[in-house]
Amino acid sequence: MKMMITYMILFCSFFLLSQIAFAGEEDRKRWNKRYSTKEYIYGKEPIAFLKENIHVLTKGKALVLAMGEGRNALFLARNGFDVDGCDVSDVAVKKCKVLAQENNIKINAFVADLEEYEIATNQYDLITCIYYTQRDLIPQIKAGLKKGGMVLIETYSIDQLNYGDNAPGPKNPEYLLKHNELLDLFRDFHILSYREGEVAPQKTVASIIAQKK
Ligand SMILES: C[S@@+](CC[C@H](N)C(=O)[O-])C[C@H]1O[C@@H](n2cnc3c(N)ncnc32)[C@H](O)[C@@H]1O
Repeated sequence: MKMMITYMILFCSFFLLSQIAFAGEEDRKRWNKRYSTKEYIYGKEPIAFLKENIHVLTKGKALVLAMGEGRNALFLARNGFDVDGCDVSDVAVKKCKVLAQENNIKINAFVADLEEYEIATNQYDLITCIYYTQRDLIPQIKAGLKKGGMVLIETYSIDQLNYGDNAPGPKNPEYLLKHNELLDLFRDFHILSYREGEVAPQKTVASIIAQKK
């Protein structure tokens, strides 16, 4: 009986681990396919919220999570940040490196699956997470910031679903921010900027900048 239970535990652990690894690989394949075009699918310019608030952000070492082709990471590097930028898609990371080289910008761009990656603690003056929702990263983001460091997050809110199936953004509510969710998640930080609402036609987002006390 004992042996059977041990086998069952081993089997279940193996199954769960393989599912997690498979999820990362699936993400990589799906995103590589989307990025496999000459165009920069999200453009080369940073999001407006980052651009408008660049003067507010604590200068120094920045980590750009799920950076895609690097529009925001390269903007930060151009503005004097020492940038680490990662993404699960090796195609996107390569495109970011090409853009960096073309513009003579230095950046540490690397492939990482955020389902597995561990953010180094107490390392960063700024961490951004833009149009990527993975709630279990929040404690790691908080620990990764130095005291006085800032987090900048922007992504679609749950109201995005009101536009119907043809609007951009995820359709699974799991990947959309609830009303006030970012405010609640960073209640232990000093909130410097927060907004929720429609920022463009068919685009409703939540954005926050918060500072570690
Ligand atoms: C909507 S795009 C946003 C890209 C970028 N932040 C921007 O605004 O241009 C979402 C990004 O998350 C990345 N991603 C998806 N799953 C990931 C994972 N498990 N680990 C790291 N990055 C992931 C995708 O490759 C994609 O680049």
